Amino acid sequence: MIETDDGHLAELIAEYEENGWCRSPFRFTDPAVNVLRGSLDAVCRRGGPEVVHEKGSTAVRAVHGCHEFEEAYAMLVRHPYLLALAEALTGTPVYVYQFKVNLKQAREGQAWPWHQDFAFWNAEDGLPTPAAVTLAVPLDDVHENNGPLNLIPGSHRLGYLGPGKVTPGDRSDWRRNFDADPEHTMEADRARELIDSFGSTRATGRAGTIQAFHPNIVHSSSDNASPDRRALLMVSYNSVDNAPLHPTRPEFLVGRNTDQLKPRCDERFPLEAV
Ligand code: SIN
Ligand code: MN
Repeated sequence: MIETDDGHLAELIAEYEENGWCRSPFRFTDPAVNVLRGSLDAVCRRGGPEVVHEKGSTAVRAVHGCHEFEEAYAMLVRHPYLLALAEALTGTPVYVYQFKVNLKQAREGQAWPWHQDFAFWNAEDGLPTPAAVTLAVPLDDVHENNGPLNLIPGSHRLGYLGPGKVTPGDRSDWRRNFDADPEHTMEADRARELIDSFGSTRATGRAGTIQAFHPNIVHSSSDNASPDRRALLMVSYNSVDNAPLHPTRPEFLVGRNTDQLKPRCDERFPLEAV
């Protein structure tokens, strides 16, 4: 593993505070990405309740909580660099609140409407404050046409903008928030107003890059009409002091162990400079 000197963290913190997101100058190497991709295939084949499909299709849309049963992901979430980054960006010790891979299959992967992650986490789990950060690692190259995250940089500085448009649905079914028409989203007109003020940017990049997102940054992503899959692995780390007040969704969506996560080295996951 290459040495990631702590000096760059101060710059990343400043960028994150300003824009609500940042890209690390380090990435996982191609062999490391291959390990993570292999685990994704295994999880999709396993097919438990944590695997969500696109509406009316057998295409896998997302898998959740696999760090609890897939050994490579269990090690990844404890990666010393990811933990150091999450702790630097939140300013606190952290644990894994949520783990998912959104697959955005070639030609079948559907959109995610405009939203703030905190809107879901606060309404569904009672997350008290946005003292959390999502670290995202694309497992495929992400380009303009395979459904990259579309971000409104700086929108997190407006804070939590409210629960947004609430689509009536069966509140007992957690799955209602994992298709392309979830609750707690933002009206497109409101997002357009925000883009007029803040602009927007697409989080494209090579597989293995490491990006961080603030829980209040407004974001969306479009359908994937391209021939290229866009699998995006996301680990949401939460401050150990910010445990959800009413965690009722399944454990594979809301981690119950809020003890500080301890780093573990794994030689399968080396980093290199971007
Ligand atoms: C998200 O908003 O949490 C994910 C969206 C995506 O995978 O494109
Ligand atoms: Mn989101």
